[in-house]
Amino acid sequence: MEEQQVEPAPAAVKARRNAFDRDAVAEHSKALKMKDVTFQNDIRFLTGLGEFDRVLGGGLVQGSVVLISGEPGIGKSTLLLQICQNVGKNAKLLYVTGEESLEQIKLRAVRVGVDTENLLLLSETSVNKIIPEINAVQPDVVIIDSIQTLFDENYPSSPGTITQVKQATLQLIAKAKEDRISILIVGHVNKDGAIAGPKVLEHMVDAVLYFEGEKQNTYRVIRAVKNRYGSTNEIGMFAMSAEGLEEIEKPSE
Ligand SMILES: Nc1ncnc2c1ncn2[C@@H]1O[C@H](COP(=O)(O)OP(=O)(O)OP(=O)(O)O)[C@@H](O)[C@H]1O
Ligand SMILES: [Mg+2]
Repeated sequence: MEEQQVEPAPAAVKARRNAFDRDAVAEHSKALKMKDVTFQNDIRFLTGLGEFDRVLGGGLVQGSVVLISGEPGIGKSTLLLQICQNVGKNAKLLYVTGEESLEQIKLRAVRVGVDTENLLLLSETSVNKIIPEINAVQPDVVIIDSIQTLFDENYPSSPGTITQVKQATLQLIAKAKEDRISILIVGHVNKDGAIAGPKVLEHMVDAVLYFEGEKQNTYRVIRAVKNRYGSTNEIGMFAMSAEGLEEIEKPSE
């Protein structure tokens, strides 16, 4: 076999290599020394439901994205509306509904005793219209009810498909991290698989909570199956009533 001759690098190439300067390279990502990375202590909003705060690891972390999954009718909208009362004392909230009218939300709010001035309601399913409204309103906390109703106008598929559910979530996550907004996303658990389930989002978000219970009885349990800001050993217990979810304190051991 004939040996291949390697040409020596021309002088111009050598000069370029020597002059290699990290700053001169266009658009590259720069690594930081770990010791130069700064962080603020997590700012957390207390939701007023101690059971929920405990499962979150001590309240809702500013800038975090939390997915709340549960079967239809289990009480997801009720839970998220109820936390608005306490969070609204120190923060501005935007509740985006894609499946209920504003009147329905208001009726539920009246029933469960939510009347904070700091809660704004938006009925919208296009994520391309929701993001500009988030920019205009500048809320601290956004509630998305539910992710399966949202769609991105740049993709032709219907709401609820894997593409749409993922694209909408990606945009919301980017917004949360950019502006340090906490976003709570409702995901319907669907057994027949026709609609993209919240499972496909679990790796993308910061925390995943399952809200469960038997519809026949009033008890509801919330537990974290993933949490970048706390443990996944806690569970929260509630009872559903006409006035909404009431916390059940754990019996003392
Ligand atoms: N007047 C009431 N009295 C008692 N419980 C009620 C009343 N109205 C609603 N509920 C309870 O609230 C549940 C519905 O709560 P909610 O709408 O928050 O659930 P969800 O998980 O958001 O449902 P969906 O899948 O429809 O979005 C009902 O299944 C029922 O248990
Ligand atoms: Mg609901």
